[in-house]
Amino acid sequence: MAEEGLAVVVERSRTEAVIDELRAAGIYDDARSVRPDGEDCVSVPVTDVPAGVDYREVVRQVGDARHRDLDDHLRELGWTDAERDAAPSSWAVLGSVVLVEVGDAPRPGELGEALLALHGGANTVLARGPVTGDHREPDVSVIAGAGDTEVVHTEHGTKYAMDLAEVMFSPGNKAERARMGETVEAGERVVDMFAGIGYFTLPMARAGADVTAIEHNPAAFRYLLENVRLNDVTERVRPYRADCRAVLERTDAATDVTADRVVMGYYDADEYLDAALGALSPGGVVHVHEATPEPLAFDRPVERLRAAAADRDRTVMVLDTRRVKGYSEGVAHVVVDARVE
Ligand SMILES: C[S@@+](CC[C@H](N)C(=O)[O-])C[C@H]1O[C@@H](n2cnc3c(N)ncnc32)[C@H](O)[C@@H]1O
Repeated sequence: MAEEGLAVVVERSRTEAVIDELRAAGIYDDARSVRPDGEDCVSVPVTDVPAGVDYREVVRQVGDARHRDLDDHLRELGWTDAERDAAPSSWAVLGSVVLVEVGDAPRPGELGEALLALHGGANTVLARGPVTGDHREPDVSVIAGAGDTEVVHTEHGTKYAMDLAEVMFSPGNKAERARMGETVEAGERVVDMFAGIGYFTLPMARAGADVTAIEHNPAAFRYLLENVRLNDVTERVRPYRADCRAVLERTDAATDVTADRVVMGYYDADEYLDAALGALSPGGVVHVHEATPEPLAFDRPVERLRAAAADRDRTVMVLDTRRVKGYSEGVAHVVVDARVE
């Protein structure tokens, strides 16, 4: 059954941001597909001509009824019920890239084609493997599309430029990134010990905090610098490409880092608690992340923090404990917020 309706033509690179604006305006028509429109543009379905959204032209979309979801597309590709049951139930759209864990899906190439058809604004589908090493490097492979892995992903107004083939990005930490932006006070002195491309640093700096952002992976650090410029927070971020322990334990005046808040967004954060507490002013707050077997959540990270504080004759008041997301079978990514006197 043919469906038709209005659509606005925009540059492919703006698809995600425009869909967010149209959703906010209540006129994004998700009963129809985003469709390619020429080389670099797409047509985004709308229920009304938008005001205040930048677009090239308004067109009338005429064509097949939208395949409602991935299952429709895979059925059309001839996947059996059992094969479709093995297809992933979630994926992330980051700029023009779809990031998906293929799992047991039988034909990754076809899965990729189906995801490209579903997300007209995307031009590449990446199969997401494990993140490894202390540089947290992703293991990804292109399963469909142009293979262009550099994106600018916008989330809660924060822009993240990154090459998804070089640096990790965890869609599951979305709420935690937003929370850090909402938690800080303007003018607060914050140390982000494991800054990456600016996952937490950017929302915190955009909220007015002064952030010392430390990252030792050269590729991630390069994007950190680019993202600080992209989000116009150069005045509020001090980036260091170095080992965070070395920076925090330096005693020369130039890098004397005393913080009201220390963010430890790294699963091996417990190995750096002493350096973190050394930089944290009395009464300051620390956010310690950990991958914890469910039965040990939240006692283990809290005990580790209490022990490190005791070594410095300091006391810990736990403010909050959260489950950020599942990490693996029986293991959770958790975070402990604590005030340290
Ligand atoms: C897991 S990632 C950050 C993830 C981020 N918290 C998020 O929400 O997605 C940890 C980052 O810390 C960096 N890193 C690990 N050990 C470090 C160290 N000793 N000094 C500085 N950076 C470090 C890694 O290169 C990586 O970019």
